[in-house]
Amino acid sequence: MAAAPSQAVLFIILLHIFYIFAPSHQYHPLDSLTPSEFSQIRSIVTKAYPESSTHNLTFQYVGLEEPSKQTVISWLKNETTTNPPRQAFVIARIDHQTHELIVDLSLQEITSKRIYSGYGYPMFTFEDQENADKLAFTYPPFVASIRRRGLKLEEVVCESFSVGWYGEEEEEGKNNKRIVKVMCYYMNGTVNLFMRPIEGISMTVDLDEMKIIGFQDRVTVPVPKADETEFRESKIKPPFRQSLKEITVVQPDGPSFTIDGHMIR
Ligand SMILES: *[C@@H]1O[C@H](CO)[C@@H](O)[C@H](O)[C@H]1NC(C)=O
Ligand SMILES: *[C@@H]1O[C@H](CO)[C@@H](O)[C@H](O)[C@H]1NC(C)=O
Ligand SMILES: *[C@@H]1O[C@H](CO)[C@@H](O)[C@H](O)[C@H]1NC(C)=O
Repeated sequence: MAAAPSQAVLFIILLHIFYIFAPSHQYHPLDSLTPSEFSQIRSIVTKAYPESSTHNLTFQYVGLEEPSKQTVISWLKNETTTNPPRQAFVIARIDHQTHELIVDLSLQEITSKRIYSGYGYPMFTFEDQENADKLAFTYPPFVASIRRRGLKLEEVVCESFSVGWYGEEEEEGKNNKRIVKVMCYYMNGTVNLFMRPIEGISMTVDLDEMKIIGFQDRVTVPVPKADETEFRESKIKPPFRQSLKEITVVQPDGPSFTIDGHMIR
């Protein structure tokens, strides 16, 4: 949609006002990374670790590597000091290892790298979870368990969850694998799938191998009914309770704070 001419003029005026009053510091050192910085980080890291048939790279976390408190304090005190270098902290999985990288955006390079070998794993990505969720549908013992319950496979939805933390000894016992628990639910007549768990089946997936490494079908219990589980307003039918009476909250002089970039005062 094209902006009306008056809006365009207003925009230009505001832009000029912004430039006149813009602080000498272009940004605060603690400002979060911008979309263009994220793109730069991606190209710097993928250039250093090119993906190929033998190398897989996934970004599990990308965030600002904050400058030290002392650096920020001296920056705050002295308007003429140049901004500290923008850096990002990246956690990447590269060939089944967790890499911790510091990417310097002014130098356009990785300035620090180490392989993390302690307990625990980085956050899951959507791809990790989506791929794990799909595995059950081509896993014959799972398909057989669904059939045995008289359920339709096309109405089953699976989701993966962290297996949890049971202490260091337990982690070592698991041979240090990156594992998720997959749990499945039944739709068939509702979108409220978490109301209809398919109990009794437990599955675990090794995310690095991307395969099911544990499967148990212990007990068959009925799946809760789909009736009365609808929550979407458009699908809910009367009787409704009385609608609420109107309420108004007013701040005639505007809010008690101002927003300046990422800062709220
Ligand atoms: C890279 O990922 C793909 C897809 O998940 C997988 O098939 C392949 O085995 C992986 N390669 C390596 C070297 O881990
Ligand atoms: C402020 O920073 C500039 C440039 O880094 C420096 O030359 C100047 O001495 C500093 N002033 C104070 C008061 O620290
Ligand atoms: C699926 O839902 C329909 C409508 O509620 C019901 O009649 C049918 O028995 C259900 N089928 C299965 C296999 O759960």
